[in-house]
Amino acid sequence: MTTIKPHTSLPGHVAIIMDGNGRWATARGLRRSRGHRAGVEAAKRIVLESIAIGIDQLTLYAFSTENWTRSKQEVTFLMGLVARHLRTEYDFYRQNNVRVRHIGCLSGLPAEVQREIERVTTDTADNTAITVNLAINYGGRDEIVRAVNRWVDARDPGEHLCEAELRSYLDLGEASDPDLLIRTGGEQRISNFLLWQCAYAELAFSPRLWPDWDGGDLRRAVDDFRRRKRNFGGTPIPPPERDPLRGADALQGVSSS
Ligand code: FPP
Repeated sequence: MTTIKPHTSLPGHVAIIMDGNGRWATARGLRRSRGHRAGVEAAKRIVLESIAIGIDQLTLYAFSTENWTRSKQEVTFLMGLVARHLRTEYDFYRQNNVRVRHIGCLSGLPAEVQREIERVTTDTADNTAITVNLAINYGGRDEIVRAVNRWVDARDPGEHLCEAELRSYLDLGEASDPDLLIRTGGEQRISNFLLWQCAYAELAFSPRLWPDWDGGDLRRAVDDFRRRKRNFGGTPIPPPERDPLRGADALQGVSSS
């Protein structure tokens, strides 16, 4: 009988849908804005823990293309919060050697937010401890449409699109796909996040609200990931080579590696 060993390596890329800020605040009799502020603190805890674990890339869903439908007051607060965070806590990224990238439609953001994103992404471009991709004004469908339109503008006559070519036009470009997609806050859906890149991501759903998340939650999610078996649509073990000298014997006692 063949043995299927669990997959044991760390997730190189973790993506997180940070959900539950509003409920966290409401449960404490606070305004939703207090939940979002606590959400930023949770994000910083998780960035530090990701560095400690050895994760290469962390992608955080901070504001979706659908979040514009929230009340004007909440949208204004969130935009101000992101701009303030990037301006006043800029040293958090610099001191911890974090490279910040942005994914999403930059031109659709208020000028102040665009400015702060451009500054932090430029100034941290050479940092090496981890890459944090901040998804702000991001939607998976929007990303694919923007990518296709850029390709259409650049293509040669008669050229057809292939997967590798489309990928190169996506916001994350050649970065590795997320190995693990986590959603906090109890809901179990993808909500237009990294639709292309999560084709083979392992999914993890946590009932805990995002502002409550700490390093222990991330470590548990990573430990659970390491116990999973990933086949990427293939067979669990590579088919054994048939040894012409030993015939069918070569097929016995093979286990995965
Ligand atoms: C969902 O909670 C969360 C968001 C809309 C994203 C807000 C995220 C942050 C403020 C953290 C940003 C971090 C950085 C580093 C910029 P919700 O409001 O949908 O919660 P609910 O489902 O309980 O209402």
